[in-house]
Amino acid sequence: MNRGLSNRGIKASKTIMRVDMEAYFEAIQNLYDKNENPNGTFPLNMAENKLSWHLLKDKIQAISREKDIPEWVAGYTSGKGSSSFREAAAHFLSECLAGIDLDPELLAFSAGATSVVEMTALVLGDEGDVMAVPAPCYPVYKQDVANIANMERYDIITHHDISEIKNGLILNIDHLEHTKKEIESQGKRFKMLALTNPDNPTGGLFSYKKLLEVAEWCIENEVHLIVNEIYGLSLIDTTHPAIAADYSSELPFVSFIQIMKDKQSDYLHWWYSLSKDFGISGFRMGATYSYNEAFINAYENINYSHLTSNYTQWIMEEVFKDLDFVKKYIATNQRLLTEAYVIVIQKLRELNIEYVPSRGSLFIWADFSKFLTENTLEAERAFWSLFYEKTGILLTPGEGFGHTKRGLYRIVYPFFGSEALEVAMKRLENFVKNN
Ligand SMILES: Cc1ncc(COP(=O)(O)O)c(C=O)c1O
Repeated sequence: MNRGLSNRGIKASKTIMRVDMEAYFEAIQNLYDKNENPNGTFPLNMAENKLSWHLLKDKIQAISREKDIPEWVAGYTSGKGSSSFREAAAHFLSECLAGIDLDPELLAFSAGATSVVEMTALVLGDEGDVMAVPAPCYPVYKQDVANIANMERYDIITHHDISEIKNGLILNIDHLEHTKKEIESQGKRFKMLALTNPDNPTGGLFSYKKLLEVAEWCIENEVHLIVNEIYGLSLIDTTHPAIAADYSSELPFVSFIQIMKDKQSDYLHWWYSLSKDFGISGFRMGATYSYNEAFINAYENINYSHLTSNYTQWIMEEVFKDLDFVKKYIATNQRLLTEAYVIVIQKLRELNIEYVPSRGSLFIWADFSKFLTENTLEAERAFWSLFYEKTGILLTPGEGFGHTKRGLYRIVYPFFGSEALEVAMKRLENFVKNN
Protein backbone atom coordinates (compact mmCIF):
# COMPACT_ATOMS: atom_id res chain seq x y z
CA MET A 1 0.00 0.00 0.00
CA ASN A 2 1.53 3.31 -1.02
CA ARG A 3 -0.88 5.45 1.09
CA GLY A 4 -0.73 8.20 -1.50
CA LEU A 5 3.07 8.59 -1.47
CA SER A 6 5.26 9.16 -4.52
CA ASN A 7 7.63 6.37 -5.57
CA ARG A 8 10.39 8.41 -3.92
CA GLY A 9 8.30 8.70 -0.74
CA ILE A 10 7.59 4.97 -0.65
CA LYS A 11 11.29 4.21 -0.99
CA ALA A 12 12.15 6.73 1.75
CA SER A 13 9.51 5.30 4.09
CA LYS A 14 11.26 1.94 3.88
CA THR A 15 14.93 3.04 3.93
CA ILE A 16 16.33 3.59 7.41
CA MET A 17 19.14 6.13 7.60
CA ARG A 18 21.59 3.64 9.13
CA VAL A 19 21.31 0.14 10.56
CA ASP A 20 22.38 1.13 14.08
CA MET A 21 20.11 4.17 14.51
CA GLU A 22 17.37 2.42 16.49
CA ALA A 23 19.89 0.73 18.78
CA TYR A 24 21.57 4.12 19.35
CA PHE A 25 18.34 5.80 20.44
CA GLU A 26 17.63 2.88 22.73
CA ALA A 27 21.17 3.01 24.20
CA ILE A 28 21.11 6.73 25.00
CA GLN A 29 18.02 6.18 27.15
CA ASN A 30 20.19 4.07 29.43
CA LEU A 31 23.59 5.82 29.36
CA TYR A 32 26.38 4.77 31.71
CA ASP A 33 26.87 7.05 34.69
CA LYS A 34 29.34 6.24 37.45
CA ASN A 35 26.89 7.04 40.26
CA GLU A 36 23.42 7.03 38.73
CA ASN A 37 23.66 4.16 36.25
CA PRO A 38 26.86 2.08 36.61
CA ASN A 39 25.40 -0.75 34.49
CA GLY A 40 24.36 1.62 31.73
CA THR A 41 25.34 1.57 28.06
CA PHE A 42 28.24 3.00 26.06
CA PRO A 43 27.01 4.01 22.61
CA LEU A 44 30.34 4.29 20.79
CA ASN A 45 28.72 4.17 17.36
CA MET A 46 27.56 7.71 16.60
CA ALA A 47 30.16 10.17 15.27
CA GLU A 48 29.89 12.69 18.06
CA ASN A 49 32.60 14.36 20.07
CA LYS A 50 31.36 15.20 23.58
CA LEU A 51 34.74 16.15 25.06
CA SER A 52 34.84 19.88 24.37
CA TRP A 53 31.25 21.11 24.25
CA HIS A 54 31.58 22.65 27.72
CA LEU A 55 34.19 25.09 26.35
CA LEU A 56 32.05 26.20 23.42
CA LYS A 57 28.87 26.24 25.48
CA ASP A 58 30.27 28.84 27.88
CA LYS A 59 31.34 31.00 24.94
CA ILE A 60 27.94 30.76 23.24
CA GLN A 61 26.09 31.50 26.43
CA ALA A 62 28.20 34.62 26.95
CA ILE A 63 27.44 35.80 23.38
CA SER A 64 23.70 35.23 23.87
CA ARG A 65 23.78 37.15 27.15
CA GLU A 66 25.96 40.06 26.16
CA LYS A 67 25.35 40.84 22.49
CA ASP A 68 22.45 42.47 20.72
CA ILE A 69 20.95 40.43 17.89
CA PRO A 70 21.63 42.35 14.64
CA GLU A 71 18.72 43.27 12.33
CA TRP A 72 19.72 40.95 9.47
CA VAL A 73 19.15 37.86 11.61
CA ALA A 74 15.36 38.11 11.35
CA GLY A 75 15.20 38.44 7.54
CA TYR A 76 16.21 36.65 4.33
CA THR A 77 19.89 36.55 3.42
CA SER A 78 21.91 35.22 0.49
CA GLY A 79 21.33 31.57 -0.43
CA LYS A 80 25.02 31.03 0.44
CA GLY A 81 24.58 32.39 3.96
CA SER A 82 24.83 35.98 5.23
CA SER A 83 27.81 37.95 3.93
CA SER A 84 29.05 38.99 7.39
CA PHE A 85 28.97 35.36 8.56
CA ARG A 86 30.75 34.13 5.45
CA GLU A 87 33.47 36.74 5.94
CA ALA A 88 34.06 35.64 9.54
CA ALA A 89 33.95 31.96 8.53
CA ALA A 90 36.37 32.48 5.62
CA HIS A 91 38.80 34.20 7.99
CA PHE A 92 38.52 31.38 10.54
CA LEU A 93 39.06 28.74 7.83
CA SER A 94 42.08 30.61 6.42
CA GLU A 95 43.68 30.93 9.84
CA CYS A 96 42.85 27.55 11.36
CA LEU A 97 42.40 25.00 8.56
CA ALA A 98 43.47 26.02 5.06
CA GLY A 99 46.56 28.12 5.77
CA ILE A 100 45.71 30.37 2.79
CA ASP A 101 43.11 33.08 2.18
CA LEU A 102 39.59 32.04 1.19
CA ASP A 103 37.21 34.17 -0.85
CA PRO A 104 33.90 34.44 1.10
CA GLU A 105 32.03 34.73 -2.22
CA LEU A 106 33.06 31.18 -3.13
CA LEU A 107 31.87 29.78 0.19
CA ALA A 108 28.29 28.53 0.74
CA PHE A 109 26.59 27.10 3.82
CA SER A 110 23.83 24.53 4.28
CA ALA A 111 22.25 22.62 7.16
CA GLY A 112 25.16 20.26 7.90
CA ALA A 113 27.44 18.27 5.62
CA THR A 114 24.45 16.04 4.85
CA SER A 115 22.74 18.96 3.11
CA VAL A 116 25.97 20.01 1.44
CA VAL A 117 26.42 16.54 -0.07
CA GLU A 118 22.79 16.48 -1.23
CA MET A 119 23.05 19.93 -2.79
CA THR A 120 26.39 19.18 -4.45
CA ALA A 121 25.00 16.00 -5.99
CA LEU A 122 21.98 17.93 -7.21
CA VAL A 123 24.14 20.55 -8.89
CA LEU A 124 26.81 18.24 -10.34
CA GLY A 125 25.08 14.95 -11.12
CA ASP A 126 22.12 13.78 -13.16
CA GLU A 127 19.95 10.80 -12.32
CA GLY A 128 21.93 7.56 -12.58
CA ASP A 129 25.33 9.30 -12.46
CA VAL A 130 27.82 7.84 -10.03
CA MET A 131 29.81 9.11 -7.05
CA ALA A 132 32.74 6.83 -6.19
CA VAL A 133 34.37 6.57 -2.77
CA PRO A 134 37.29 4.44 -1.54
CA ALA A 135 36.02 1.68 0.79
CA PRO A 136 35.47 1.50 3.68
CA CYS A 137 33.54 4.75 3.62
CA TYR A 138 30.87 6.73 5.51
CA PRO A 139 27.65 4.79 4.80
CA VAL A 140 25.21 7.72 4.57
CA TYR A 141 26.84 9.15 1.41
CA LYS A 142 24.74 6.54 -0.37
CA GLN A 143 21.46 8.19 0.65
CA ASP A 144 22.87 11.72 0.48
CA VAL A 145 23.60 11.47 -3.24
CA ALA A 146 20.43 9.48 -3.95
CA ASN A 147 17.74 11.31 -1.94
CA ILE A 148 17.26 14.25 -4.24
CA ALA A 149 19.76 13.85 -7.08
CA ASN A 150 19.08 10.13 -7.65
CA MET A 151 22.79 9.50 -8.04
CA GLU A 152 24.43 6.18 -7.18
CA ARG A 153 27.38 5.27 -4.97
CA TYR A 154 30.26 3.06 -6.09
CA ASP A 155 32.75 1.63 -3.58
CA ILE A 156 36.36 1.43 -4.76
CA ILE A 157 38.04 -1.59 -3.19
CA THR A 158 41.70 -0.77 -2.56
CA HIS A 159 42.55 -3.41 0.06
CA HIS A 160 41.02 -6.19 2.14
CA ASP A 161 42.89 -6.49 5.44
CA ILE A 162 43.54 -3.72 7.94
CA SER A 163 47.25 -4.55 7.88
CA GLU A 164 47.45 -3.22 4.31
CA ILE A 165 46.54 0.34 5.34
CA LYS A 166 48.41 0.55 8.63
CA ASN A 167 51.04 2.77 7.04
CA GLY A 168 48.60 4.93 5.11
CA LEU A 169 45.56 4.99 2.88
CA ILE A 170 45.75 3.41 -0.54
CA LEU A 171 44.34 4.98 -3.70
CA ASN A 172 46.16 5.02 -7.00
CA ILE A 173 45.53 5.88 -10.62
CA ASP A 174 44.93 2.21 -11.49
CA HIS A 175 42.03 2.18 -9.02
CA LEU A 176 40.57 5.27 -10.67
CA GLU A 177 41.01 3.90 -14.20
CA HIS A 178 39.42 0.61 -13.17
CA THR A 179 36.51 2.46 -11.49
CA LYS A 180 35.92 4.56 -14.61
CA LYS A 181 35.94 1.48 -16.83
CA GLU A 182 33.53 -0.43 -14.58
CA ILE A 183 31.08 2.45 -14.24
CA GLU A 184 31.15 3.17 -17.97
CA SER A 185 30.73 -0.51 -18.84
CA GLN A 186 27.35 -0.28 -17.05
CA GLY A 187 26.42 2.64 -19.31
CA LYS A 188 26.80 5.14 -16.48
CA ARG A 189 28.93 8.24 -15.91
CA PHE A 190 31.67 8.55 -13.28
CA LYS A 191 30.70 12.06 -12.21
CA MET A 192 32.11 12.55 -8.72
CA LEU A 193 34.88 11.17 -6.53
CA ALA A 194 34.60 11.98 -2.82
CA LEU A 195 37.51 11.60 -0.40
CA THR A 196 37.12 12.17 3.32
CA ASN A 197 40.30 13.60 4.84
CA PRO A 198 40.95 12.67 7.63
CA ASP A 199 39.05 9.56 6.69
CA ASN A 200 35.88 8.10 8.17
CA PRO A 201 36.18 5.33 9.43
CA THR A 202 39.94 4.63 9.24
CA GLY A 203 41.30 7.96 10.52
CA GLY A 204 43.90 7.85 7.72
CA LEU A 205 45.17 10.89 5.86
CA PHE A 206 45.78 11.47 2.18
CA SER A 207 49.12 13.19 1.61
CA TYR A 208 49.43 16.43 -0.37
CA LYS A 209 51.22 14.47 -3.12
CA LYS A 210 48.42 11.90 -3.32
CA LEU A 211 45.71 14.55 -3.39
CA LEU A 212 47.55 16.35 -6.17
CA GLU A 213 47.95 13.17 -8.22
CA VAL A 214 44.25 12.31 -7.83
CA ALA A 215 43.21 15.91 -8.57
CA GLU A 216 45.20 15.93 -11.80
CA TRP A 217 43.63 12.65 -12.92
CA CYS A 218 40.14 13.98 -12.10
CA ILE A 219 40.68 17.23 -13.99
CA GLU A 220 41.97 15.34 -17.02
CA ASN A 221 39.03 12.91 -16.92
CA GLU A 222 36.40 15.56 -16.08
CA VAL A 223 35.43 13.84 -12.84
CA HIS A 224 34.52 16.20 -9.98
CA LEU A 225 36.81 15.60 -7.00
CA ILE A 226 35.42 16.72 -3.66
CA VAL A 227 37.47 16.47 -0.50
CA ASN A 228 35.43 16.38 2.70
CA GLU A 229 37.48 17.92 5.52
CA ILE A 230 34.75 17.52 8.14
CA TYR A 231 37.41 16.06 10.54
CA GLY A 232 40.14 18.49 9.44
CA LEU A 233 40.72 19.94 12.92
CA SER A 234 40.16 16.70 14.84
CA LEU A 235 43.79 15.61 14.61
CA ILE A 236 45.63 13.14 16.83
CA ASP A 237 49.03 14.00 18.29
CA THR A 238 50.97 11.16 16.67
CA THR A 239 54.08 12.10 18.65
CA HIS A 240 52.37 11.13 21.94
CA PRO A 241 54.81 8.62 23.53
CA ALA A 242 52.12 5.95 24.06
CA ILE A 243 51.30 5.73 20.35
CA ALA A 244 54.27 7.21 18.45
CA ALA A 245 55.58 3.74 17.53
CA ASP A 246 52.46 3.20 15.40
CA TYR A 247 53.53 5.79 12.85
CA SER A 248 56.48 5.02 10.61
CA SER A 249 56.59 8.52 9.15
CA GLU A 250 55.23 11.99 9.65
CA LEU A 251 52.21 12.90 7.57
CA PRO A 252 50.85 16.40 8.16
CA PHE A 253 47.27 17.26 7.30
CA VAL A 254 47.21 19.63 4.31
CA SER A 255 43.94 21.20 3.28
CA PHE A 256 42.77 20.46 -0.24
CA ILE A 257 41.93 24.17 -0.60
CA GLN A 258 45.64 24.77 -1.28
CA ILE A 259 45.52 22.50 -4.33
CA MET A 260 42.21 24.00 -5.44
CA LYS A 261 43.69 27.50 -5.31
CA ASP A 262 46.72 26.45 -7.36
CA LYS A 263 44.69 24.58 -9.98
CA GLN A 264 41.67 26.94 -10.25
CA SER A 265 39.76 24.05 -11.83
CA ASP A 266 36.01 23.69 -12.30
CA TYR A 267 36.40 20.06 -11.16
CA LEU A 268 37.75 20.56 -7.63
CA HIS A 269 35.54 21.27 -4.61
CA TRP A 270 35.61 21.10 -0.83
CA TRP A 271 33.16 20.16 1.93
CA TYR A 272 33.19 20.97 5.64
CA SER A 273 30.90 21.02 8.65
CA LEU A 274 31.05 22.23 12.24
CA SER A 275 29.35 19.02 13.43
CA LYS A 276 32.54 17.15 14.35
CA ASP A 277 35.45 19.55 14.97
CA PHE A 278 33.18 21.71 17.15
CA GLY A 279 30.92 18.93 18.46
CA ILE A 280 27.77 20.77 17.34
CA SER A 281 25.99 18.41 14.97
CA GLY A 282 22.71 19.88 16.23
CA PHE A 283 23.60 23.35 14.90
CA ARG A 284 23.32 21.97 11.35
CA MET A 285 26.08 23.95 9.72
CA GLY A 286 28.00 22.59 6.74
CA ALA A 287 29.97 24.34 4.00
CA THR A 288 31.20 23.99 0.46
CA TYR A 289 33.93 25.94 -1.34
CA SER A 290 34.73 25.96 -5.04
CA TYR A 291 36.47 28.06 -7.68
CA ASN A 292 33.76 26.94 -10.10
CA GLU A 293 31.56 30.05 -10.03
CA ALA A 294 28.74 28.38 -11.99
CA PHE A 295 28.64 25.68 -9.30
CA ILE A 296 28.49 28.28 -6.52
CA ASN A 297 25.82 30.32 -8.36
CA ALA A 298 23.66 27.24 -8.92
CA TYR A 299 24.14 26.25 -5.30
CA GLU A 300 23.10 29.71 -4.08
CA ASN A 301 19.98 29.73 -6.24
CA ILE A 302 18.57 26.45 -4.93
CA ASN A 303 19.93 26.32 -1.39
CA TYR A 304 17.14 28.13 0.49
CA SER A 305 15.48 24.93 1.59
CA HIS A 306 18.81 23.73 2.99
CA LEU A 307 20.20 26.91 4.55
CA THR A 308 21.34 27.10 8.19
CA SER A 309 19.20 29.53 10.21
CA ASN A 310 20.49 33.10 10.47
CA TYR A 311 20.43 32.89 14.24
CA THR A 312 22.92 30.01 14.17
CA GLN A 313 25.01 31.84 11.57
CA TRP A 314 25.13 34.91 13.80
CA ILE A 315 26.15 32.96 16.90
CA MET A 316 28.99 31.25 15.00
CA GLU A 317 30.03 34.55 13.38
CA GLU A 318 30.56 35.93 16.89
CA VAL A 319 32.50 32.81 17.91
CA PHE A 320 34.73 33.02 14.80
CA LYS A 321 35.46 36.70 15.44
CA ASP A 322 37.30 35.64 18.60
CA LEU A 323 40.07 33.67 16.91
CA ASP A 324 42.15 33.48 20.10
CA PHE A 325 39.31 31.56 21.71
CA VAL A 326 38.85 29.35 18.63
CA LYS A 327 42.56 28.49 18.46
CA LYS A 328 42.64 27.59 22.14
CA TYR A 329 39.49 25.51 21.71
CA ILE A 330 41.07 23.57 18.81
CA ALA A 331 44.29 22.91 20.77
CA THR A 332 42.40 21.73 23.88
CA ASN A 333 40.08 19.60 21.78
CA GLN A 334 43.02 17.90 20.04
CA ARG A 335 44.66 17.20 23.39
CA LEU A 336 41.45 15.65 24.76
CA LEU A 337 40.94 13.62 21.58
CA THR A 338 44.47 12.24 21.81
CA GLU A 339 44.06 11.31 25.49
CA ALA A 340 40.83 9.42 24.78
CA TYR A 341 42.35 7.77 21.70
CA VAL A 342 45.31 6.52 23.76
CA ILE A 343 43.01 4.88 26.31
CA VAL A 344 41.34 2.75 23.64
CA ILE A 345 44.52 1.96 21.70
CA GLN A 346 46.33 0.72 24.82
CA LYS A 347 43.49 -1.70 25.50
CA LEU A 348 43.26 -2.92 21.89
CA ARG A 349 47.00 -3.61 21.88
CA GLU A 350 46.81 -5.46 25.19
CA LEU A 351 43.97 -7.62 23.83
CA ASN A 352 45.63 -8.21 20.45
CA ILE A 353 42.83 -6.61 18.48
CA GLU A 354 44.12 -5.17 15.22
CA TYR A 355 43.35 -1.53 14.38
CA VAL A 356 44.32 1.15 11.91
CA PRO A 357 46.51 3.81 13.59
CA SER A 358 44.50 6.99 13.25
CA ARG A 359 45.86 10.43 12.45
CA GLY A 360 42.53 12.23 12.77
CA SER A 361 38.71 11.90 12.95
CA LEU A 362 36.73 10.53 15.92
CA PHE A 363 37.26 6.86 15.07
CA ILE A 364 39.25 3.69 15.47
CA TRP A 365 38.64 1.10 12.75
CA ALA A 366 39.20 -2.26 14.44
CA ASP A 367 39.22 -5.90 13.40
CA PHE A 368 37.05 -8.20 15.52
CA SER A 369 36.80 -10.82 12.76
CA LYS A 370 38.44 -13.49 14.93
CA PHE A 371 35.34 -13.43 17.15
CA LEU A 372 32.94 -14.16 14.27
CA THR A 373 31.53 -17.70 14.08
CA GLU A 374 31.85 -17.57 10.29
CA ASN A 375 32.89 -15.08 7.63
CA THR A 376 29.41 -13.79 6.75
CA LEU A 377 27.30 -10.69 7.14
CA GLU A 378 24.91 -12.64 9.39
CA ALA A 379 27.78 -13.56 11.71
CA GLU A 380 28.95 -9.93 11.69
CA ARG A 381 25.46 -8.77 12.73
CA ALA A 382 25.23 -11.50 15.36
CA PHE A 383 28.56 -10.49 16.91
CA TRP A 384 27.52 -6.82 16.98
CA SER A 385 24.32 -7.73 18.91
CA LEU A 386 26.08 -10.18 21.21
CA PHE A 387 28.83 -7.68 22.02
CA TYR A 388 26.24 -5.01 22.86
CA GLU A 389 24.25 -7.44 24.97
CA LYS A 390 27.30 -8.59 26.97
CA THR A 391 29.14 -5.27 27.34
CA GLY A 392 26.59 -2.50 26.79
CA ILE A 393 29.02 -1.10 24.20
CA LEU A 394 27.46 -0.24 20.88
CA LEU A 395 29.97 -0.30 18.03
CA THR A 396 29.30 1.03 14.54
CA PRO A 397 28.71 -2.03 12.38
CA GLY A 398 30.92 -2.36 9.32
CA GLU A 399 27.81 -3.00 7.24
CA GLY A 400 27.16 -0.10 4.87
CA PHE A 401 30.82 1.00 4.74
CA GLY A 402 31.08 -0.85 1.43
CA HIS A 403 34.08 -2.93 2.40
CA THR A 404 34.80 -6.57 1.53
CA LYS A 405 36.02 -7.93 4.85
CA ARG A 406 33.50 -8.97 7.52
CA GLY A 407 34.09 -8.38 11.24
CA LEU A 408 35.41 -4.81 11.09
CA TYR A 409 33.73 -2.28 13.37
CA ARG A 410 34.19 1.41 14.13
CA ILE A 411 34.79 2.70 17.67
CA VAL A 412 33.90 6.33 18.41
CA TYR A 413 36.29 7.19 21.25
CA PRO A 414 35.32 10.79 22.24
CA PHE A 415 31.71 10.13 23.28
CA PHE A 416 32.63 9.72 26.98
CA GLY A 417 35.25 11.29 29.24
CA SER A 418 38.38 9.34 30.25
CA GLU A 419 37.00 7.85 33.44
CA ALA A 420 33.91 6.37 31.76
CA LEU A 421 35.93 5.28 28.73
CA GLU A 422 38.22 3.27 31.06
CA VAL A 423 35.12 1.46 32.36
CA ALA A 424 34.03 0.68 28.80
CA MET A 425 37.52 -0.68 28.07
CA LYS A 426 37.35 -2.87 31.18
CA ARG A 427 34.08 -4.32 29.87
CA LEU A 428 35.76 -4.96 26.50
CA GLU A 429 38.60 -6.75 28.30
CA ASN A 430 36.16 -8.95 30.27
CA PHE A 431 34.35 -9.84 27.07
CA VAL A 432 37.54 -10.84 25.28
CA LYS A 433 38.76 -12.90 28.24
CA ASN A 434 35.46 -14.81 28.37
CA ASN A 435 35.07 -15.44 24.64
C1 LIG B 1 32.24 11.96 6.31
C2 LIG B 1 30.98 12.57 6.82
N1 LIG B 1 30.28 13.39 6.03
C3 LIG B 1 29.14 13.95 6.46
C4 LIG B 1 28.63 13.69 7.72
C5 LIG B 1 27.34 14.35 8.15
O1 LIG B 1 27.63 15.51 8.87
P1 LIG B 1 26.53 16.57 9.32
O2 LIG B 1 26.08 16.20 10.69
O3 LIG B 1 27.24 17.90 9.32
O4 LIG B 1 25.41 16.54 8.35
C6 LIG B 1 29.32 12.83 8.57
C7 LIG B 1 28.78 12.49 9.90
O5 LIG B 1 29.16 11.53 10.51
C8 LIG B 1 30.53 12.26 8.11
O6 LIG B 1 31.26 11.44 8.88
